[in-house]
Amino acid sequence: MLKPFYLLLVCFIITADAQESLRKYADSLGLNIGVAIRESYITGTGSSATTHNNIVKTEFNTVVCENAMKSQNLAYSKTTYNFSTADNVVDFAIANKMKIRGHTLVWYRQNAQWLISGDREMLLANMKYHIEKVMGHYRGKIYQWDVVNEPFDEAGSGKFRTDNNPWQTVIGEDYIDSAFVYAHAADPGCKLYINEFGTTFPGPKSEALYDKVKEMLDNGIPVHGVGFQCHEGAVEDTVAAGLYAGIKYNFNRFAELGLDLAVTELDIQSSDPKAQADNYRVYLQVALSFPQCRTFVIWGVSDKDSWRSSGTPLIYDGNFKPKPAYDALLAVLKDPTPVVLVDRRARRLTKAGYLVYDRANNTVRVNDPSSNGPAIMEMFDLRGARIAKVTLRANNPLPLSSMKTAPGTALIRVKDEVVRIARDK
Ligand code: G3I
Repeated sequence: MLKPFYLLLVCFIITADAQESLRKYADSLGLNIGVAIRESYITGTGSSATTHNNIVKTEFNTVVCENAMKSQNLAYSKTTYNFSTADNVVDFAIANKMKIRGHTLVWYRQNAQWLISGDREMLLANMKYHIEKVMGHYRGKIYQWDVVNEPFDEAGSGKFRTDNNPWQTVIGEDYIDSAFVYAHAADPGCKLYINEFGTTFPGPKSEALYDKVKEMLDNGIPVHGVGFQCHEGAVEDTVAAGLYAGIKYNFNRFAELGLDLAVTELDIQSSDPKAQADNYRVYLQVALSFPQCRTFVIWGVSDKDSWRSSGTPLIYDGNFKPKPAYDALLAVLKDPTPVVLVDRRARRLTKAGYLVYDRANNTVRVNDPSSNGPAIMEMFDLRGARIAKVTLRANNPLPLSSMKTAPGTALIRVKDEVVRIARDK
């Protein structure tokens, strides 16, 4: 017979063990769910620091330094590197069995002045020295590095960034290739990323990034992954906006090059918690749909500490209370089962005509009377596996109930074109 104290203890252990967290489910999916660390909290003693640190180690299995690994904060002079702040984060992560992403080695901002002073030869030498110094210090501890950050211009034109970017203006475009070559030599076991914002969706900047990484691969430059920062604003209706399909289409092109993908700095501005939650849901669903995308990082814990706090873009509010966005992520991680999502408004011109969802009958059909022939429709689950491949004819609707998928999401592709993700609520 157990004494009351032991009974209590057993109950406590069972309750503690059953506690839900993003980390618990991400671990079981093999997903590195990460967060950018507000470094001062790690050694802080106030209640915000305690709460922040508890959330980090309970809910996440991966960390990134928000600022501490940028050269300005490490490399006071060529002979005076101070790793202490970043080391505190790394030690915290290791103590809590978390992975560490490195951010960032070569960027136009937050540079130590000496690093970016001089002519082309000097800047290349400084860059090599800095990469060797930092990657050498953390060799074996950091699984991915953002080697080059934000090489394309702010306006999204697809041109390389020249404004305040001495790497580009003094060295030239080849600074990117050199950085990756130096980084690979410094830590051959580390995955090397190029990291950008404003590239979540197709567009000139995204095209330019695609062309650059393709060229790097063609030339044997050791680039292993593309980081999509994903500093976004929430769309009101994710289905109407085709959010899933847009991101999926864009990410897919990079995956098809054989590269890894990562969502590296996600935050989604919104004053509508429900819409924000739905947007977070979609980003995670897209990420999970790629076996190549095993890293999903949110850029901060609490809204009050966000670099754009007025947009309340994070999954914890200013009092560190989880928001609906947190619940949405947890729900996806708990049940990443694929589902057929059919938008009641899903219609878009494809090579085969319009794809139409008939809500009453839960069917999909092609409604192009002058059809160029039957359309092949493929449906993919959230892990990117093909659920079905069917031939659609104008007068031959496809009953979605026959697809043997649980309710949820799927990507629909007609011929070579991704047309729509849709939802049947
Ligand atoms: O630490 C000083 C503090 O001592 C001082 O009192 C205070 C006064 O303004 O400034 C503090 O430094 C600030 C630092 O954040 C830490 O809070 C800097 O001014 C501020 O510029 C810096 O902003 C960071 C920003 O990068 C700088 O470029 C943000 O925290 C950080 O979230 C942001 O992160 C970037 C990624 O690295 C790259 N992608 C975009 C992303 C958002 O801008």
